[in-house]
Amino acid sequence: MNSLKENNQNQYQYQQLHQYQHKGQNRHQYQNEHQNQQQNQNKHHYTHQNQNQSQSQNKENLIVAHISEMFALELGFSTREARLIGKAAEYHDVGKACICPSIIMKPSALTPDEFEVMKMHTKFGAQMLANMRGELGVVARTVAEFHHEDCQATGYWKVPTSQLPSFLPLVSIVDTYIALRNRRPYKPS
Ligand SMILES: [Fe+2]
Ligand SMILES: [Fe+2]
Repeated sequence: MNSLKENNQNQYQYQQLHQYQHKGQNRHQYQNEHQNQQQNQNKHHYTHQNQNQSQSQNKENLIVAHISEMFALELGFSTREARLIGKAAEYHDVGKACICPSIIMKPSALTPDEFEVMKMHTKFGAQMLANMRGELGVVARTVAEFHHEDCQATGYWKVPTSQLPSFLPLVSIVDTYIALRNRRPYKPS
């Protein structure tokens, strides 16, 4: 099966080369063209990986949003507030779109420099949501910027959750739970 494929490929490559030679073009040009084709194929593969990554990221955001809303209701927030928190939680990682996929999808631990870049998804997220109006805008920007903080001020920006709105730890807990439960490039689920 493989050798048939290889034969066909070789034949195809030979025909291309032959055509070029007929046109008076040299082998060097053919090799360049072949390299470009391979680069495009790699780019295509990479884009596919990115698409899969963003699809699973979107799915995960919806799950974080849904559980955050349920959790908020359980903790005594009103239905309107819980809906607002859930909707805002959906955008918590929107800033990851600004982070290089090689960092997002790195299958091993991040270097200190890469981690500094990764941290920026919170700031980028808040900036991306700058034009979101009303209460949702305020809550979504706060969630995006501070969803990696904790009560001991050991999070990304060392802000204790006691200084943040009460819905913040709620979304952080849900986000952490989902991150622990789901598969990541650097860990199984
Ligand atoms: Fe995040
Ligand atoms: Fe997240």
